This record gives sequence, structure tokens and C-alpha cells, in this order.
Amino acid sequence: MSSIDFKGRVAIVTGAGGGLGKSHALELAKRGAKVVINDLGGAVDGTGGSISAAEEVAAHINASGGEAIADGANVTKPDEVAAMVKATTEKWGRVDILVNNAGILRDKTFHKMTLEDFKAVIDVHLIGSATCTHAVWPLMREQKYGRVIFTTSPSGLHGIFGQANYGAAKAGMIGLMNALTLEGAKYDIKVNLISPSARTRMTEDLGVPEEVLKQWTPEAITAAVLYLVSEEAPSRQIVSCVGGGYATAHIIETDGVYLPPEQQTPEEIAAHWEDITNRDNIHFYEDSAGPNMNFIAKAQAYGG
Ligand code: NAI
Repeated sequence: MSSIDFKGRVAIVTGAGGGLGKSHALELAKRGAKVVINDLGGAVDGTGGSISAAEEVAAHINASGGEAIADGANVTKPDEVAAMVKATTEKWGRVDILVNNAGILRDKTFHKMTLEDFKAVIDVHLIGSATCTHAVWPLMREQKYGRVIFTTSPSGLHGIFGQANYGAAKAGMIGLMNALTLEGAKYDIKVNLISPSARTRMTEDLGVPEEVLKQWTPEAITAAVLYLVSEEAPSRQIVSCVGGGYATAHIIETDGVYLPPEQQTPEEIAAHWEDITNRDNIHFYEDSAGPNMNFIAKAQAYGG
């Protein structure tokens, strides 16, 4: 097994003042990457802010023989993100790796959630990830090399009660990844999603038993993230991980049925529902042409 290192690589990790981002940044630095420790330093709900957490992580890396700089950019502010990327390229000349990790929570059931709380969460997770990625994308294309991670969540993939805003933001990253994978392929830009569960300040009050929680280390998540930003990384994967368990999640589509024009009615849909939803023969499509081709073939076989 060859070891994975990041010598000569430059990485930006957002929200790296604590929790998962800090763990990713420390291990990237340990394995040779020059790392930008970005963090706004706010509370879990996104209020407040101080660069001191990012500065502490950067100081620790520099004191341990690595190279890091702290940056307090708010990932939702394009001008602050542009300044962060400019400072990075001025110092180190390139950006090879972007780990979009910054995040906040504003949990409430949907009927109690204000639209302000809905938008604030979408803004940090989805728009913030797009903003940072947009800022490094031209560089990665020019370099013909880039590795991008979006941090999704079981909430975005499978749903959690009280997280309509967070789930929507996290699921939005799937669409972002799909398009960027297709657009980045010829420039050796690889884009992947990590769906973690780990012990951080975000999960401390969830009521998970202590003996389970102590297995849920950030380092277990970092192992997968570092593989996904390595030279040999796959692309377009959603990697689910918690406490040493690793799997991939997928968008699948059933084979479905073809109904001729006279049967394209709600009643016939109801009558065929079992066949439409039958999972015996499922497809993983490479792009949106996939389902169209499947149904064109079915219509032709029908004689349509
Ligand atoms: P955390 O609260 O320790 O880390 C999030 C960091 O992002 C904080 O340090 C915060 O200051 C920073 N941040 C927030 N808004 C920012 C902004 N606008 N600009 C720059 N930095 C900002 O929580 P944790 O658990 O480490 O979360 C990291 C990521 O992992 C988040 O995206 C979270 O949604 C995701 N996640 C975590 C899970 C877990 O089990 N801990 C589960 C699923 C997803």
C-alpha cells in the first residue's frame, strides 16, 4: 500500500478552526500540504466571530514544522473569499485542494422556522461552498489539477426531523458535484462529497450514548477526506462515514415502464405504480441523458 502525501500541494480548508475542519487541516499539514486555515470563528448558529480559533490551529501547525496561514473570511462573502484566494496564491502560487467544510445549524421544525433561518443555513453551506469553489475554479482549470470536497450530511441524503434548511443545503451539494464533475473532468479536477457523523460541538447535544460517541472521531472522517483529495482520488462519489464505517451513497433510478400516449393518465400511473417503483433492476446514470435513453429504448421496443 503506497502512502498518500501532499508535498507541494496547497489546500484551503474552510471552517478549520475546530471540529472536522481542524482535523482535516492538521492531517493535510502533517502529510506535507501547505494549508489555509479558514474560519470565521462564530457560534454553532453562525452568530459572532473571531479569527483566534483559526490562528491557534495555524500556529500549532507552524510550531510542529508544517506550513499554515489563518484566514477569517466569511465563506458567504465573495470579496472576502477572493481576498483569501489571492493571499494564498501570493504566498504559495497555487490552490490544489479545497475542502468546503464550514457550516452552521439553525434547527427548528419547518412550521416554526423563519425564512431568515432557512436562508442563513443555505447561504453558509450551499452558497458558501459554491462561492469558495467558484473562486478557485479558474486556477484549478489553469493548473489542470484540482480536488474539491463538499461536506454533505446524512440529513441531506436521508432526512432529519427539524432540519429542512440544513437538509436542503446539504442535498443541493449533490447537484453541484454532479455538474462540476462533468465540467472539471478534462482539467483533472475531481469533486466528491463526504457525509460524516462525528463528535464535535455540533453533535454534542444529540443524546448519542457516550460509548458510541467516543468511536465517532473526526480522524475517522479525515481519513476518507484525505483519500478523496489525493492524486488517486475518484470523482463524483458520496462517501458516508461514521465511527470507522465507510460506504458510498448513490442516486439511483428504477428501470421503470413505458406507457403509450393513451395510457399516459393518472389512473394508469396508479395502476403501474408497482412496476414504476420496482427496484429489481436499478440504474446509476453518468449524466441526465441516462433516463432519456432508457425510455427512448423502451418506447422503441414497444413500437412507439
Ligand atoms: P463545527 O461547528 O465544529 O465546525 C464548523 C466550523 O465552520 C466552525 O468552526 C465555524 O466557525 C465555521 N464557520 C461557520 N460559518 C462560517 C462561515 N460563514 N465562514 C467561515 N467559517 C464558518 O462543526 P463540525 O461538526 O466540525 O462541522 C463541520 C462540517 O461537517 C459542517 O459542514 C457540518 O454541517 C458537517 N457535518 C458534521 C456532522 C457531525 O456529525 N459533526 C454531521 C454531518 C455534517
